[in-house]
Amino acid sequence: MSTQTALLKVMSDAARKAARGLNRDFGELTELQVSKKGAADFVSAADLKAEQTIFEMLQKARPGYGFLGEERGLIEGTDKTHTWIVDPLDGTTNFLHAIPHFAINIALQREGAIVAAVTYNPVTNELFWAEKGKGCFVNDKRLRVAARQHLNESVLATGIPFLGHGQHATFLKELHQISQRVAGVRRFGAAALDLAFVAAGRFDGYWERDLKPWDLAAGLLLVSEAGGKVTSAEGDEDVLGSGSICASNLELHPLILQRLRAAA
Ligand code: IPD
Ligand code: CA
Ligand code: CA
Repeated sequence: MSTQTALLKVMSDAARKAARGLNRDFGELTELQVSKKGAADFVSAADLKAEQTIFEMLQKARPGYGFLGEERGLIEGTDKTHTWIVDPLDGTTNFLHAIPHFAINIALQREGAIVAAVTYNPVTNELFWAEKGKGCFVNDKRLRVAARQHLNESVLATGIPFLGHGQHATFLKELHQISQRVAGVRRFGAAALDLAFVAAGRFDGYWERDLKPWDLAAGLLLVSEAGGKVTSAEGDEDVLGSGSICASNLELHPLILQRLRAAA
């Protein structure tokens, strides 16, 4: 039931190998106290190293595939139908601040559709994975989105715009529409894990704007394979193109969208 295919194994191995480096660097950051001044450079070096590891492993396993990574941009392959979409370190600000909540994100796009996904949390050793039509898992456990049907019992995740990034006024209007109707709103700081947590039924829903394909590609398959619904924050199917997301179960999804529309 939870046996990974050769494709998923390639992706999981790449994530685990990159994670070993990230874990070492995270340990150094928290224990050896990289000087405040050097911390940002240290983290971007860790980030680049992780992407290099993932790139090499994926490249070796599937030589013709294209590669879209946060750090190196798009590298076209000879096989125009397949592209890896990779965020080697999602939750950089957490990492930099020694907050143990970050992930490695690897997705495979085939002819425009995401067909395989891995989101790995190296700190908790939780590997979230899914393949189109085959369900969603964390390690060897099958996942389902939460069953809650009412906003007043739901905990939603979001992303708060920050210095130089995002639409601050829009976010405040959306938060105002949502926060007064739900049991809680969380901002954990790693979009990849926000989506994995929706797939796992930990969060009942999640919305955020101004994201990139590598933040979203893996998670959108995790959520849909866990039985959830994923659209842009406007309700469109083109999540990667829009850079915004609304992910939840089938009952709550329209209710969240309704609130986002009321904020517009
Ligand atoms: C960020 C995280 C964060 C989200 C930001 C992203 P990064 O990715 O996913 O949760 O709010 O917009 O850029 O920079 O840590 O890879
Ligand atoms: Ca990211
Ligand atoms: Ca990143």
